[in-house]
Amino acid sequence: MQVLVLHGPNLNLLGTREPGIYGAQTLAQIDEDLSKKAREAGVVLESYQSNHEGALVDRIQAAGRDGTRFIIINPAAYTHTSVAIRDALAAVALPFVEVHLSNIHKRESFRHHSYLSDLAVGVICGLGPVGYHLALQYALSQRPSS
Ligand code: DQA
Repeated sequence: MQVLVLHGPNLNLLGTREPGIYGAQTLAQIDEDLSKKAREAGVVLESYQSNHEGALVDRIQAAGRDGTRFIIINPAAYTHTSVAIRDALAAVALPFVEVHLSNIHKRESFRHHSYLSDLAVGVICGLGPVGYHLALQYALSQRPSS
């Protein structure tokens, strides 16, 4: 079982970026905690952050070939704009959970629409970094029993 965690633009600034909205944890801390949890469960977890739409599309396409079984994605601002990321996720047809740290439905109206949500297995928003952990817990629960 291989899980890929994707983080979109500006999430590299977590910790200092609008902490009242996104919290105090850095991306490195979030990724480290997720890796630890995955390792304990015997699962390979890779995290990837990019500020570039094409780089995220490339990484999703690669996930279709590299043995990835599940994607956890916070597309950040691309949630609300990116047909390209939607198409890449549809093309690889891997199950994914969409995560947002903030409750996008409590915020500006342009954040209410996601290009990905109707393709996602589920969407978690507003729970901060806990959202990633719940998504990972779900991915682990989907492991084929051997
Ligand atoms: C976000 C919400 C998006 O609207 C925003 O553009 C982000 C982060 C979140 O995690 O709450 O960059 O995806």
